[in-house]
Amino acid sequence: MKIIGVIGAGQMGAGIAQVSAAAGYDVLLSDRDKPLADKGVAGIAKILARSVEKEKISTADRDATLARIKTVGSTADFGPCDLVIEAATEREEIKRAIFAEVGKVLRTDAILASNTSSIPITRLAQAAPDASRFIGVHFFNPVPVMGLIELIRGLATSDATLAAVEAFGRKLGKEIVHANDAPGFIVNRVLMPMINEAIFALGEGVATMQDIDAGCRLGLNHPMGPITLADFIGLDTCLEIIRVLHSGTGDPKFRPAPLLVKYVEAGWTGKKSGRGFYDWT
Ligand code: CAA
Repeated sequence: MKIIGVIGAGQMGAGIAQVSAAAGYDVLLSDRDKPLADKGVAGIAKILARSVEKEKISTADRDATLARIKTVGSTADFGPCDLVIEAATEREEIKRAIFAEVGKVLRTDAILASNTSSIPITRLAQAAPDASRFIGVHFFNPVPVMGLIELIRGLATSDATLAAVEAFGRKLGKEIVHANDAPGFIVNRVLMPMINEAIFALGEGVATMQDIDAGCRLGLNHPMGPITLADFIGLDTCLEIIRVLHSGTGDPKFRPAPLLVKYVEAGWTGKKSGRGFYDWT
């Protein structure tokens, strides 16, 4: 594997592009248009500049990493890619449309992966050009800091596809866990009910959000409280995932907290919009 295509230059896609380029892969990064992809690279440049300041990497490393990332305005240029990772919005119809588009140019021996955080891989594979070369590769935010990749095989994913993507993940220096194709896989199956419950507790007046967060941070030794973490992930993304858990299992324990729904409906989607449960402006 030499050339990695990344679809989506938001916080996850940009992070995946950054760690792939840092590991020596050539990266093509796309978004809805080239300026959006360029914005992703500008963010990467900022993070790398901070790493240079902290003397974690040299200026030569920074320059080499940035030089390996090329932005494009669509996936029409993804023909040379060995592996394409889709990191677009967590909405099935958007992902399906992207797979149809990239499928027109993908080599027959290339692998297509989705960074979906909860949508069933077997179902998504139906929109991919070849289900045997389709797999779930789930990164965690912030991608350069978090040491994990969850790999999820669909029913038709081949052993060769799994092995190739495992080798890619190891080259990025990530630990790999394998999850079955069940709603939310491992991490979100456990994390999202915690976030959702924290928001129920807030809505029911159990405590202030500051106290709920401090309780989990200091009482459970988590790096950040669940409500802050939800703002970081994006409340819209959290809601999409909890809805996938709810509809995928039919279990009422996964029903979304009304307050979470209300915030998303208000457009208060967290850090990225400047306003979530906390004010990020
Ligand atoms: N990109 C790159 N590096 C980043 C970063 C970013 N966005 N944010 C922070 N960092 C780096 C900092 O540069 C710093 O590096 P050094 O230690 O080398 O100086 C390091 O991370 C620690 O950062 P800070 O000191 O600024 O702040 P912190 O100690 O509070 O750490 C954090 C920040 C790493 C985000 C930490 O709070 C944390 O681990 N939070 C929980 C993150 C988490 O749970 N992520 C998973 C979310 S779930 C998910 O992603 C999956 C899904 O499907 C929803």
